[in-house]
Amino acid sequence: RDIKGIILAAGKGTRLYPLTKVLSKQLMPVYDKPMIYYPLTTLMNCGIKEILIICNPNHLCDFKNLLGNGKQWGIEIQYKCQPSPDGIAQAFLLGKDFLEDKNVVLILGDNLFYGNNFEKILKAANEEKNGATLFAYPVSDPSRYGIINFDEETNKVLDIVEKPLTPMSNYAVTGLYFYDNKVINYAERLTPSKRNELEITDINKTYLDASNLNVQILGTGIAWLDTGTFDSLQEAGTFIRTLERRQGLKIGSPEEAAWRNKFISDNDLIKLAKEISKSSYGSYLINLIKQKTPKLD
Ligand code: TTP
Repeated sequence: RDIKGIILAAGKGTRLYPLTKVLSKQLMPVYDKPMIYYPLTTLMNCGIKEILIICNPNHLCDFKNLLGNGKQWGIEIQYKCQPSPDGIAQAFLLGKDFLEDKNVVLILGDNLFYGNNFEKILKAANEEKNGATLFAYPVSDPSRYGIINFDEETNKVLDIVEKPLTPMSNYAVTGLYFYDNKVINYAERLTPSKRNELEITDINKTYLDASNLNVQILGTGIAWLDTGTFDSLQEAGTFIRTLERRQGLKIGSPEEAAWRNKFISDNDLIKLAKEISKSSYGSYLINLIKQKTPKLD
């Protein structure tokens, strides 16, 4: 498949100070795993094996210590630093050499997706070879997000507005984006916005103007959580804990995703599990093989 993944995990995390004074936000625990495990697993479940992680130069060593080159999970991880948070769309300039002529899925390092049929939705988006695919999700505080204005009758996308003061809808653009390779060219033509960022909304509008933008609405069966504030971070942890304890399953485990997608063998998984056998995370991985738990959608 001609698609590569980028996880954008830089930024300053100023809303989480002093937690993020030294540590990266995307390495904070969300219950039993570092935050970046969740978006990483989302990409792996799309079938993506080549992934670029963009992080803050101060945190590069931490990310490398945690994730390495990805070989242990049968994938290839590369790294690139973003010296200052100059906007989400800068990811395509920083990732230009990595992407070559491939299509790309970009996911924000602090975004968690979970839910019914989500993998099927992802795989369907992955089949689209041209244009852009975005996911819209209803939110209760639309003025914090990029908001999509739909035509009431046809459901056609009319416009996307970044942080509108008077939102025309409550459908936010989530932090997961599929683009064809034209995105690099579009990013190169962008100029910084009033807040001095290269805006992902401007990229999306370029696709909209070219009639090449596909928006999929995610419904109540899907959870989209972001983790940028103390409360949303805690809530995400509680959400994951509740589901995991009730079902005895794990969400956002790259080891499990690697094994289920056949990127690694049973023996590889056992080896990974044994390295962390004192943690219940390790015993969970061993049990996957023992029980041959069927995968849930
Ligand atoms: P934000 O939450 O908007 O920014 P932040 O993470 O720096 O946090 P704060 O507002 O508290 O200062 O960013 C959303 C995600 O996108 C987050 O995972 C960081 C990432 N990001 C970058 O990596 N580089 C950037 O230039 C921007 C704007 C965001």
